[in-house]
Amino acid sequence: MALKPVGAGAQVELAGLDEVELLAVVRAQPRPAHVAIIMDGNGRWATRRGLPRVAGHREGVKTARAIVRAADALGLRYLTLYAFSTENWSRPEDEVSTLLRLLERAIRSELPELMERNVRLRVLGRTNGVPLQVRRGIDHVVQATRDNTGLTLMMAFNYGGRDELIDACRALARQVQAGELRPEDIGEKEIQQALYTADVPDPDLLIRTSGEMRVSNFLLWQIAYTELWITPTLWPDFGAVDLYRAIAEFQGRTRRFGGV
Ligand code: IPE
Ligand code: IPE
Ligand code: MG
Repeated sequence: MALKPVGAGAQVELAGLDEVELLAVVRAQPRPAHVAIIMDGNGRWATRRGLPRVAGHREGVKTARAIVRAADALGLRYLTLYAFSTENWSRPEDEVSTLLRLLERAIRSELPELMERNVRLRVLGRTNGVPLQVRRGIDHVVQATRDNTGLTLMMAFNYGGRDELIDACRALARQVQAGELRPEDIGEKEIQQALYTADVPDPDLLIRTSGEMRVSNFLLWQIAYTELWITPTLWPDFGAVDLYRAIAEFQGRTRRFGGV
């Protein structure tokens, strides 16, 4: 397993700590290598203010930018953000097209800062179905940042956990058909390497905002032993301090991986 228990005996009283104190707590202990986030609640944030849902997505993009900076400053190795699911196509067409355009523009406009911070962008998800212009814009940033060696930012975009497993099964079946792999040699490692997240350690911590107690088809294989942290805070209201709190609580947990 990727990471040893980090939290045993490291319980710290977190309630009442401010941002600077929380950051100090987080920095004093081993950080998770990989944090994944289900960025949820943009629509509710907007509706509560009498605004159209897309106004929430616009705010959500700002939060994502702030969280990438915070993750980079903390020295996390991988940050995975769930930006658009295969099920999100079922939303009204104008919400979908605005959201895709917003995401593409945000990613493109981030390129200079990603380069400056040595951040590599990877995309998890299927490319078919994504408008060509959006695909090209994102691909450009993926290519431009491919040799960066700092934080790897993974955008789950047109992503579905079940589609990912289907694609992995197909890839392995093709290898078997070509005589390159024997069925009995398929194990966890082979499946892991056939996923969109090949070569990436499983998330240590999964954060979901806006309080829903579900995983919504996200990283189904990879989260087998991931620690979950769910907050009622809506994504546009989430900030670096919330990320620090989530990590500090994670650091106080004992991961057992089925042992004692
Ligand atoms: C998360 O916010 C963004 C995406 C799923 C793309 P939502 O749009 O799901 O917001 P709620 O859950 O309706 O509040
Ligand atoms: C999960 O949020 C997908 C993303 C954050 C991109 P949803 O809002 O789509 O999930 P459900 O519908 O509440 O399960
Ligand atoms: Mg939602």
